[in-house]
Formats: sequence, C-alpha cells, structure tokens
Amino acid sequence: MSKHGCAEKAALLIGESLSDREVDIVDLKRKMDVDLSRYDTVIVGGSIYLGSLQRGIRNFCSRNLAMLLEKRVGLFICCMNEGGAARAHYDAVFDGALRAHATAAGIFGGELDFGKLSLLEKSVIGQAVNITESCSRFDEKAVGEFTAKF
Ligand SMILES: Cc1cc2nc3c(=O)[nH]c(=O)nc-3n(C[C@H](O)[C@H](O)[C@H](O)COP(=O)(O)O)c2cc1C
Repeated sequence: MSKHGCAEKAALLIGESLSDREVDIVDLKRKMDVDLSRYDTVIVGGSIYLGSLQRGIRNFCSRNLAMLLEKRVGLFICCMNEGGAARAHYDAVFDGALRAHATAAGIFGGELDFGKLSLLEKSVIGQAVNITESCSRFDEKAVGEFTAKF
C-alpha cells in the first residue's frame, strides 16, 4: 500500500527485477482478498505514517499470518526516518514471528513532496519527522539488495 507513490515505486521496482518469475503486484487499497495459496513467495510493503503502517497491511498480515509463515516472505517499509529510527519503525509495525521468518527486511527510505500533502498531513508531519522541504531519501540500492535475496 502506498499513499503518495513511494512504496508503489518500490513495489514496481521489485516486480521489474523479478520479471523472470510470474509476479502479481496487488494494491491492498483496492483488493483485500488475495488467495495466497497460489503463491510461493509473498512480499508485503507499505509506508510509515505517524509511526504506523497502513491499517490495510496490518490487517492483511494478521489475517494471513499462519499462511505467510509457510511461504517465503519479504517485508519492506518506506519512511523518511533513517538508521535506528527507521529500523524501530520496521520492528514496531510487523509481527515478531513474521519478521523472524522473513527472507529479507527492506528499509527503503522515503519521499516527501509537500505539494502533494493534504492540509492535515502538513499540520502533523512535524510530529513525525524533522523535514520542512520536499526531498527524496528513496534508496534504490537497498531495493536492489532486498530483491537479490529472492
Ligand atoms: C503525515 C505524515 C506522517 C509521516 N510520518 C512518518 C513517521 O512517523 N516516520 C517516518 O519515518 N516517516 C514518516 N512520514 C514520511 C513517509 O513515510 C514517507 O513520505 C513515505 O515515503 C511515504 O510513502 P508513500 O508515498 O508510499 O505513501 C510521514 C509522512 C507524512 C505525510
């Protein structure tokens, strides 16, 4: 799931890199009921808003936890915080058993375009990150390293 496009960009890059395989990219905003039995590998990712991951992803992971634990799994986040703070987001938003099971953990950085933010987002962003101008911290190399594990 992606609100402003960064996690979507990551998903598309992953899909392109794995194009020798049969890949489906699913936006959980549009389609919540995915039949996971069709897949040997499931990569789940989204973006961090006020320390949390989109609810649709959290619900998807908890509803499908048992099945996910039987598959090859990758988990990724996009966020503006870096280093330990970004890792803390990752640890906080994904279930511990799922994290321990995952083949790859992706922390891909983020993108912030103030022109795209709603008034509400502009009013709360200062609570989450100390950034006042549009910028990109998207780490394409990290996406490549993540994908190489599959
Ligand atoms: C309202 C708001 C809250 C955010 N909260 C956080 C946060 O708590 N931690 C963080 O690292 N990044 C935070 N971000 C940055 C987003 O995670 C980053 O812009 C990400 O790339 C958005 O991904 P998307 O384009 O897929 O929606 C926030 C951004 C907005 C607009």
